[in-house]
Amino acid sequence: MNPSQNLAPKTVASSIVREQVYMVFPNDLNSNDTVFGGLIMAHMDRLAAVVADRHAGGVTVTVSVDAVHFMAPARRGDVLVMHAAVNRAWRSSMEVGVRVEAESIGGGERRHILSAYLTFVAVDPEGKPRPVPPLVSETADEKRRYAEADLRRANRLQNAEELKRLRAAGVASA
Ligand SMILES: CC(C)(COP(=O)(O)OP(=O)(O)OC[C@H]1O[C@@H](n2cnc3c(N)ncnc32)[C@H](O)[C@@H]1OP(=O)(O)O)[C@@H](O)C(=O)NCCC(=O)NCCS
Repeated sequence: MNPSQNLAPKTVASSIVREQVYMVFPNDLNSNDTVFGGLIMAHMDRLAAVVADRHAGGVTVTVSVDAVHFMAPARRGDVLVMHAAVNRAWRSSMEVGVRVEAESIGGGERRHILSAYLTFVAVDPEGKPRPVPPLVSETADEKRRYAEADLRRANRLQNAEELKRLRAAGVASA
């Protein structure tokens, strides 16, 4: 059987990435001398994609990213420390949570830089959605994230539906 069609339930631990590190160099900085936000977002998306691909057992694509808030800047000499895990899986889609911290040089204090939720959809060779294994949440934190993910998904889908309706109604652009 093609491994990508194996729909046996999988644990969060089987796809999680913990402590992925990236050392900041001068060419990663913006004109404010802090790390360019787009660089952090690209790393976040790549990391989350690895986690989603592992859970799905094959190719996934990013379908949405919830609001990304930068809580604190990362600076020259910092090390970015990134964590990503599947929070919940539905039919073909999965929510992956990412947390990024900045560690000061030499293993010093860590600051929370950003958290975000990304939704990925598993696709077949024709690019059509395909089913993913159910997620087994084991720890208390995993169970909390699992429950909260359903609320976020409902909000996402409602927003997407409302936007579609607005556009179909022909609301004029400015
Ligand atoms: C992702 C994609 C294949 C989905 O195709 P589609 O025809 O919209 O498929 P569906 O309507 O059946 O939705 C598939 C799943 O995506 C979810 N979904 C669709 N739009 C979503 C959104 N805006 N936010 C969250 N989930 C969404 C649906 O709820 C469904 O989930 P489920 O199967 O778990 O219930 C298609 O939209 C696509 O190819 N998008 C571009 C992806 C891309 O290029 N990303 C950037 C590069 S990786």
